[in-house]
Amino acid sequence: MESYNGTRSIGILGIGTGVPADTLTNADLEKMVDTSDEWIRTRTGISERRKSKPEEAASDFGAAAARQAMEAAGVRPDQIGLIICATFTPDNMCPSTACHIQRMLGIERVIAFDLNAACTGFVYALTTAKYYLQSGICDYALVVGVDVLTKITDYQDRATCILFGDGAGAVVLGEVAHGKGLLGEYLSADGRLSEAIYVPAGGSRKPTTENTLRDREHYLRMKGNEVFRFAVNILGESVEKALERCGRKIEELDVVIPHQANIRIIEAAAKRLSVPRERFVVNVEKYGNTSAASIPLAMADAVADGRIKDGSLLALVAFGGGLTWGATIVRWGR
Ligand code: ACO
Repeated sequence: MESYNGTRSIGILGIGTGVPADTLTNADLEKMVDTSDEWIRTRTGISERRKSKPEEAASDFGAAAARQAMEAAGVRPDQIGLIICATFTPDNMCPSTACHIQRMLGIERVIAFDLNAACTGFVYALTTAKYYLQSGICDYALVVGVDVLTKITDYQDRATCILFGDGAGAVVLGEVAHGKGLLGEYLSADGRLSEAIYVPAGGSRKPTTENTLRDREHYLRMKGNEVFRFAVNILGESVEKALERCGRKIEELDVVIPHQANIRIIEAAAKRLSVPRERFVVNVEKYGNTSAASIPLAMADAVADGRIKDGSLLALVAFGGGLTWGATIVRWGR
């Protein structure tokens, strides 16, 4: 049992998802760039990904996921006191996507803000919300992970355009029984590696101009090989550190939910941690890399198919632009 220090235990009360209806398959990409279904499947594990329509934005999927999560949790919109939206593809630079979601859900006068930790955003947001709730500032929080990466993907760059998809996942957090919920976490970042994954233009350093558009600088760029090597090691290290923080052991983990970036990264991390591959939830084949949405989308699948049950011990672990990384250990159930 975890030692009880008087603070309330905060856990996941309900989970939901929201994804675009349209699918972009490897066969579609074969018609757009010099690639093949075989290359994409063997190098990444991805077969298809979801793609939003031109008129769709992050908040559309985020609000759909949040509605489902509130229904699953049995929590009404007027009970929510905090909305954190993890995204780096917001509807607008201002206002936040969290405020758009708030409006769409009819939630009035609560704390609402976006958090940008790229693909690690959901893990960062869970921890942030946990400490807000433990402070007693409110009773229920909505944590949304959403990205619409296809909007900032360069469909002339075969090294990146095959990877990314759109989607959202959301959870409602609230008080759970002692010993359950978010038990321990480890978060970190190293800004010296900021150019490993970045979008050169469109921010205040280099506002969008005709030149930046011509040079395709409003699209995401990535040093794939560098990120790959970094990711394998950091996934393992993050899980170990988060387990250490809550006095749990690797053998106790029932389920590991890694950021869905590449099947080879996940397999290498499983080996590095000596955790049987079957304990890793993988759905990268159907969604690709959905950034901040990837962990809640995979978690929702594992809840739906019964792999996550009351009492299961989970590790959620991610890495992404920043570079950022981190893990959270969760004892499932209320
Ligand atoms: N189709 C066919 N060939 C391709 C493609 C493609 N889509 N893309 C690259 N290639 C070629 C390259 O040009 C290269 O050819 P060359 O040897 O003639 O130069 C060859 O394939 C090998 O390229 P690599 O880049 O070495 O391929 P690698 O095995 O590293 O796979 C990949 C590339 C899939 C991008 C991999 O590096 C990866 O997954 N990296 C991690 C990315 C990631 O996890 N990002 C997560 C964070 S994203 C975020 O935070 C938003």
